[in-house]
Amino acid sequence: MKYDAQDCILVSKARLTPTIFDFKLKNKQLASMARAGQFANVLVAGKTLRRPISICDVDETSLRFVFEVRGGGTRQLSCMNEGDTINILAPLGNGFKLDKNKKTVFVGGGIGVPPMLYAAKAHGGEATAILGFRNKSVVILENDFKETVENLIVTTDDGTYGVHGFVTQPLSEYLSWAEMICACGSAPMLKNIANLAKSAGVPCQVSLEERMACGLGACLGCAVMLQRADGTQGFGHVCKDGPVFNAEEVVW
Ligand code: FES
Repeated sequence: MKYDAQDCILVSKARLTPTIFDFKLKNKQLASMARAGQFANVLVAGKTLRRPISICDVDETSLRFVFEVRGGGTRQLSCMNEGDTINILAPLGNGFKLDKNKKTVFVGGGIGVPPMLYAAKAHGGEATAILGFRNKSVVILENDFKETVENLIVTTDDGTYGVHGFVTQPLSEYLSWAEMICACGSAPMLKNIANLAKSAGVPCQVSLEERMACGLGACLGCAVMLQRADGTQGFGHVCKDGPVFNAEEVVW
């Protein structure tokens, strides 16, 4: 499917941490089309390549994006003000396959947390969320998740907030409960989650969007080795074939 880029109005802007911003962009048509796990390619003035940013949430009229400043493009984006127009290409990517009747654990790590909010909301069934952060100062979206899922566990690597340790520790306690795991975060975290899920026989979907650069199929920076159904292996592109994959498809 081909989408045209569209202008959106930045209707609200918040700073969640010194480097993480929360934007709400008004565009009723795109909000009605967006599925959990999809992303937008955001145009930044003066930059040729758009920046891929995951969709954190939607309501009837707007899309919400929570993103981290990681370079010049996202820094410039973070300087936009309420009332400004931002051009986005969306919704892109395949999104999560959610089943309300399957008890699902949504796992997010760091800046992989935002897309799990919309995933948990869209799921609408029994859900647990496990969110992992480096330390207390970068914990985001906790209240949003509290309003969305029955069980919420927050972990920090250094123990300054919530459970001390990685998301895999509490996740291992939910493996006998879970009928599906959906996760987004760093590749090492996802690999560990994929291994846990496999050992427990729980289906697992992973969003590899952290590996995206251009999000356009132009830079080849998002190549990922995939296991094909016929037993062979070959490269896929996170931006075009994903960002969500069955964990067993990915050659870690
Ligand atoms: Fe550039 Fe996929 S992110 S080709």
